Amino acid sequence: MSFDLVFFGGTGDLTWRKLMPALFQAFRHGKLPPGGRILAVARDEQTDDKYRAWLKDRFQEVEGPKRPSDEEFARFAELLHYRRMDLSQPEHYARLKEWLAERNADTVVLYLATSPHLFPQICEQLGQAGLNAPHIRVVLEKPLGHDLASAQEINRVVRSVFSERQAFRIDHYLGKPSVQNLMALRFGNALFEPLWRRESIANIQITLAEGIGVGTRGDFYDRTGALRDMIQNHALQLLTMIAMEPPSTSDADAIRDEKLKVLRSLKPFTEGDVQRDVVRGQYKAGSIDGKPVPGYLEEVKVPPGSRCETFVALRTEVQNWRWAGVPFYLRTGKRLAARNAEIVVNFRPVPHPIFPGANQANKLVIKLQPEDGLELHLLAAKGTGQSETLSPVSLDLDFDKAFPTERVGAYERLLLDAIAGRLNLFVRSDEQEQAWRWVEPVLDTWARDTTGPRPYAAGSWGPPAASALVARDGFAWDEEQ
Ligand code: BG6
Repeated sequence: MSFDLVFFGGTGDLTWRKLMPALFQAFRHGKLPPGGRILAVARDEQTDDKYRAWLKDRFQEVEGPKRPSDEEFARFAELLHYRRMDLSQPEHYARLKEWLAERNADTVVLYLATSPHLFPQICEQLGQAGLNAPHIRVVLEKPLGHDLASAQEINRVVRSVFSERQAFRIDHYLGKPSVQNLMALRFGNALFEPLWRRESIANIQITLAEGIGVGTRGDFYDRTGALRDMIQNHALQLLTMIAMEPPSTSDADAIRDEKLKVLRSLKPFTEGDVQRDVVRGQYKAGSIDGKPVPGYLEEVKVPPGSRCETFVALRTEVQNWRWAGVPFYLRTGKRLAARNAEIVVNFRPVPHPIFPGANQANKLVIKLQPEDGLELHLLAAKGTGQSETLSPVSLDLDFDKAFPTERVGAYERLLLDAIAGRLNLFVRSDEQEQAWRWVEPVLDTWARDTTGPRPYAAGSWGPPAASALVARDGFAWDEEQ
């Protein structure tokens, strides 16, 4: 199957930091279908060779083992081509069309790695140039909108040009191997599904913690904040994977229908709920790995006095028969104590304890990063005597060790899926809009609230109110247990 993969924003950060290195890995692993071209378009005037040399330079910043050797880069570079394109000029789209027609590949993937405010304009122009035939797909990178209305507007334009099956909305968390494993765990094994419900599960915690600050992205981040940047998309997508009903098939729409139902079942926020169930925070100076780091307000390009949140913890419920009354806690933040993304499923304690000592409940930890694996925490007897107390033990599955050579990174997986036309790991427009609908009351309440985010020290786990939120239900965050 021949393909042309076009990167709009071919010299941008996303392209050289994430997309090209991911494609290179796919190439190195022999996973890129043969007969492909990678076409980059951007504003600058340059030749293929100059673009290749520029990219080779950028690859020096890629982490060591993932960096190509000279010989590997030379082979990869044969796939790379560059053209200048001004995205506001209709004739430049006509030229792109001619360029693509020269080869007439089976599949064309147009990846919009540009600023999202350009998406409507680019899609309209693609439509006018007739670059929307059924073998053409468009990939849209987040953030997709700033609120419900702007997301709907982007979707309206995309839908006026492309069918839903041609639109690939990226949430790179869905490409993470542990997220695919979550599907495998739930629907490829009979073991957990009977327990996967309110009768057996006490609460579920989703933590997406980062040690990094906002870096040089202060201006972008300040217009976004943690709720839009991580909760509306990544955290909610993980929640849907955890809470969804078993789909009838592995078809993309069967899966996405179930995910949408979860989003529609989330308890809607009233203003009172937001005050009670949502904690927002902003990091102050502190230390990470023993080194002092500045507070958010001292970061470059952050406006003085900003009230942008860099931390969110919230409590919600999925209002259906399976999950009624089970709290789902979501938490994300910059400059937290560790880089740690995980989902913790806390089971209920045994109904009638007969062993002495702590009656610690079982838990399943799905680890997304830095490691990728599963841990099942159980209680066991060491066998030291009659009245011994039970000891916690854990069954660990480290996927990086279990399948060392076959692991595929998130962007690599998603790019290969976009080329192959597999939509399972991409977000449908109705899911995305429903997620906006759910977070919007929080944004509105915050906009009216004069108190602003709560301070937390860089290197901590966020404001104490986040612990209180969980403690109120008689539970604790995983690291506090
Ligand atoms: C992006 C956010 O979507 O995800 C960033 O915009 C964040 O702010 C990043 O740092 C986290 O991704 P990962 O894969 O490093 O956890």
